[in-house]
Amino acid sequence: MAKAWSLLLLLIILVFGAFVEGSHGSKLSQNYYKSTCPQVLSIVKAKTESTLKKKPRMGASLLRLHFHDCFVNGCDGSILLDDNSTFIGEKTALANNNSARGFELVDDIKAEVERTCPGVVSCADILAIATRDSTVVLGGPSWKVKLGRRDSITASRADANKFIPAPSFTLSALKSNFHAQGLSLKDLVALSGAHTIGLARCTTFRAHIYNDSNIDPSFAKSLQHKCPRNGKDNIHRRLDLRTPITFDNFYFRNLLKKKGLLRSDQELFNDKSADSLVKKYAADSSKFFKQFTKSMIKMSNIKPLTGNSGQIRINCRKVN
Ligand code: HEM
Ligand SMILES: *[C@@H]1O[C@H](CO)[C@@H](O)[C@H](O)[C@H]1NC(C)=O
Ligand SMILES: *[C@@H]1O[C@H](CO)[C@@H](O)[C@H](O)[C@H]1NC(C)=O
Ligand SMILES: *[C@@H]1O[C@H](CO)[C@@H](O)[C@H](O)[C@H]1NC(C)=O
Repeated sequence: MAKAWSLLLLLIILVFGAFVEGSHGSKLSQNYYKSTCPQVLSIVKAKTESTLKKKPRMGASLLRLHFHDCFVNGCDGSILLDDNSTFIGEKTALANNNSARGFELVDDIKAEVERTCPGVVSCADILAIATRDSTVVLGGPSWKVKLGRRDSITASRADANKFIPAPSFTLSALKSNFHAQGLSLKDLVALSGAHTIGLARCTTFRAHIYNDSNIDPSFAKSLQHKCPRNGKDNIHRRLDLRTPITFDNFYFRNLLKKKGLLRSDQELFNDKSADSLVKKYAADSSKFFKQFTKSMIKMSNIKPLTGNSGQIRINCRKVN
């Protein structure tokens, strides 16, 4: 009987241990591919750098893909799966449909990695590495990416619709959305600094430029010329109007002037609890970079599939 109890205790410790580990992504490791694919980091870096030289916006697009991957049941490459007649994935979720981009670059990198180390490196890891490399190319901070994520064999449009935050969100909605992923207010503000690069469509900022009062009136007016009340849904504007392909702290400096493009951006500087963080990052880009790095590592390690869960996809668009 005592033996049974101690076995049960052992089991509880093991299960609890696995849970705590998993929740921090600590099963991942920097040297995961050291013996199975030592070239992976240089392959991803070279391909990312050469592509961004011609298409700098790709950096923004990859960063957003990684975010949208991680917020929907962990960083497991689920966003990369294509829809087909028998499968509905995340690409057509509200936030992704006609909006998420960068899939071809992930395919290109994956194809090159497959040529060197077939069947070894996951799509989820490739996206995590390429996101870091993109940030560096565009002038942002670097960080060590832990590896060993495996790829999902499922995806969920419903979960993508549920977990990816919308540009109409208030600060309190954004906070609880990030808390659901184990991310704090600090993480929310620093990670939103990703909007220092990239573009957004008229349809995502229309309500803010016509209906909100916490926006610089001349900034709103100039946007209204490009983004009418009706039509032109897909015209693009810069998320950071001054330096859209440079990773810097202008995003926060814009917010101080009430020149955030999305409502969810300006909510971070709107006489509420995030104001002091925005001021801090606007005043000192090294403080922003330091927190962005910490928060990216946290986001990148959300609920990875490890061990025998999932698979290493051969084609990122399709379950093996
Ligand atoms: C805080 C909540 C957030 C909301 C509501 C939000 C919303 C949006 C929206 C509406 C767009 C424009 C999409 C389009 O019009 O096609 C966008 C673009 C973008 N977002 Fe976010 N976002 C958030 C947080 C983040 C985070 C945490 C990251 C990364 C760490 C990120 C990275 C990006 C990037 C880089 C772009 C530009 C993509 C491109 O040009 O292809 N966003 N976001
Ligand atoms: C995605 O966008 C396409 C093209 O605009 C549209 O036809 C389709 O209905 C959208 N899918 C979903 C699920 O909203
Ligand atoms: C602005 O608010 C009004 C009233 O709530 C609403 O009917 C309208 O659709 C909103 N306009 C935009 C562009 O969101
Ligand atoms: C549809 O996609 C799913 C998930 O990637 C895959 O398992 C299935 O084989 C695909 N079906 C076809 C007909 O390609």
